[in-house]
Amino acid sequence: MKKAIFQRFILILSLALVLSGSIFGAAISKIILDKTEGDMLYSLRIADHGFDYESDLKAQVDSLKEVKGNEVERFTVIDLNGIVRADSEVADSATMENHKNREEVIEAMESGVGYATRRSGTLNMPMLYVASISDNGKFILRMAVPFSGLEEYLGLLIPAILISIGITLAVSILLSERFARSVTKPLHEIAGELLKLKEKNPEFHFKKYKYEEMNVIADTTLQMALSLKESMDQIEFERMVRQEFFSNASHELKTPLTSVRGYLELLENGMAKDEKMKKDFMSRIKKETVNMTNLINDILMISRLETKEAEVVLTEVRICPLVKEVCASLEPLAKEGKVTVNLSCRPLMMNANTQQLRELFSNLITNAIKYNKPGGKVDVTVNSEAKEIVIIVEDTGVGIPEDAKLRIFERFYCVDKGRSKKVGGTGLGLSIVKHIVNYYNGSIEVESKLMEGTKFTVRLPKAQIIKKEI
Ligand SMILES: Nc1ncnc2c1ncn2[C@@H]1O[C@H](COP(=O)(O)OP(=O)(O)OP(=O)(O)O)[C@@H](O)[C@H]1O
Ligand SMILES: [Mg+2]
Repeated sequence: MKKAIFQRFILILSLALVLSGSIFGAAISKIILDKTEGDMLYSLRIADHGFDYESDLKAQVDSLKEVKGNEVERFTVIDLNGIVRADSEVADSATMENHKNREEVIEAMESGVGYATRRSGTLNMPMLYVASISDNGKFILRMAVPFSGLEEYLGLLIPAILISIGITLAVSILLSERFARSVTKPLHEIAGELLKLKEKNPEFHFKKYKYEEMNVIADTTLQMALSLKESMDQIEFERMVRQEFFSNASHELKTPLTSVRGYLELLENGMAKDEKMKKDFMSRIKKETVNMTNLINDILMISRLETKEAEVVLTEVRICPLVKEVCASLEPLAKEGKVTVNLSCRPLMMNANTQQLRELFSNLITNAIKYNKPGGKVDVTVNSEAKEIVIIVEDTGVGIPEDAKLRIFERFYCVDKGRSKKVGGTGLGLSIVKHIVNYYNGSIEVESKLMEGTKFTVRLPKAQIIKKEI
C-alpha cells in the first residue's frame, strides 16, 4: 500500500509537471512570437515612412539592414503583382520567383498586415515573416528574421527547469513517503491490536489519529474486537458449562448404574440367600432405576425449558388445589423428617402449564422438608398482588451459607454433597425452578440464615406473555 501511494503520488506529480510545463511553454512561445511580430511590424512601419519608392529600392533595403546591424535580418520590397523589386539578401531581384503566393503576402494584401513562419529556401533556416502594405498602397514591405521560438531560450530554461523539477521531486518524495507512512502506520497498529484477541485477557489500546477516517476505523475495530471477545468468552463459558453438565450428568447416572450392576451380580452369583433378600435386592434395583428416570426427566425438563419448546400447553390452572395435591404427596417425606407443612393459599387462577407449576412447588417444598431439622416447620403461602402471584416457601431448616446463595440455582450444585446424597438430591431441583420462573418472566429470591431457616419468594406475572425462542 505504501508503495502504491508513493507510485501514484509520483505519477500525478509527473503528469502535473508535464502538463504545466507544456502549457507554460506554449504560453511563452506565443508571447515571444507576438512580441517579435510586434517589433518587426514597428520596424517595417518606420522603414515605410522613410522609404522613397521612386528611387533605388535595392540600396534602401541594404541600408535598412545596415541600420538594424543584424546580418541575418532580411528586407524585401514586393509590388502588388508579387514581383520582388528589391531584396537585401539577393543582388538581382529579377532572378527571384514571384512572391504572390507567399502566405504573409496573401494575408497582407487581404488585411494590410500578414505573418508567416517557415523555412526560408534562400537562407535555409526557420524564419518569421511579417509583411505590411506600404503607406502609398503600391508595395508590400516584408521583413524576415530567423525564428526558432522557445528553442532559442532553451539553453537558459533547461537548467532552471531541471533544478525546479529536482526540488519538486525531492520534496514530493519526502511528502509522499510521510503521507504513506501516516496512512499505513495506523493500519498496522490497528491490526496489531486485533492480534491481541488471541490473548486470554487482552487490553486494547487504540490511539487517536490525525485523520478522522482512521479514528472511525479504529473505533469500529475496537467495538468489533470487544464484541468478538465477548462472544468468544460467552462461547467458552457455554462450552465449560456444557462440559461440566455432561461430566455431572454422566457421573450422576453412573452411580445408580453401578449399584444396579452390583445388585444384579449379587443375584447372578446366588448371593441372595432367601426370597426376602432377593426381594430386597429387587426393590433396591427398582429404586435406583426410578432415580435414574427422575434424573433423566429432570435433565429433559431443563433442556425443554431452555429451548422454550412450542409444545408446552398453557391452561387456566387453579393454584390452591395444585399446591394441596403437592403437599399431600409429600406428606410421607415430611413425616419421615418429622416436619410439619402449613399451607395458606388464596383461591387463584393462572394461565400456565400444570406440570411446570407442580414441579416448581414440589421442588421448593421438597427442599424445605429435606433440608429441615426434626420437629421443623414449613410454611407455604400463595398470595395475589396487583400484577403478580407471590409464592413463599419458608422453613426452619439448616439454612444456606451466604457464598452458596447464588450458586444453588446452578445445575448439579449441592451445598453439602454428603447431605444431598443422603436425602437423595442431585442438585437439579432449584435449576428447574429457576428455569420455570424465567419461562414465565418471573423472579425468585432467597433469604437464609444458617441453622435458622430459609425463605424462597417467587413472583410470577399474572398476565403471561411467553416468549418462545424457536
Ligand atoms: N430450603 C433449603 N434449605 C437449605 N438448603 C437448601 C434448601 N433448598 C436448597 N438447598 C441447598 O441447595 C442445593 C441445591 O438444591 P436443589 O434443589 O437444586 O438440589 P437437591 O435438592 O440437592 O437435588 P434435587 O432437587 O435435584 O433432588 C441443595 O443441595 C441444598 O444444599
Ligand atoms: Mg431439591
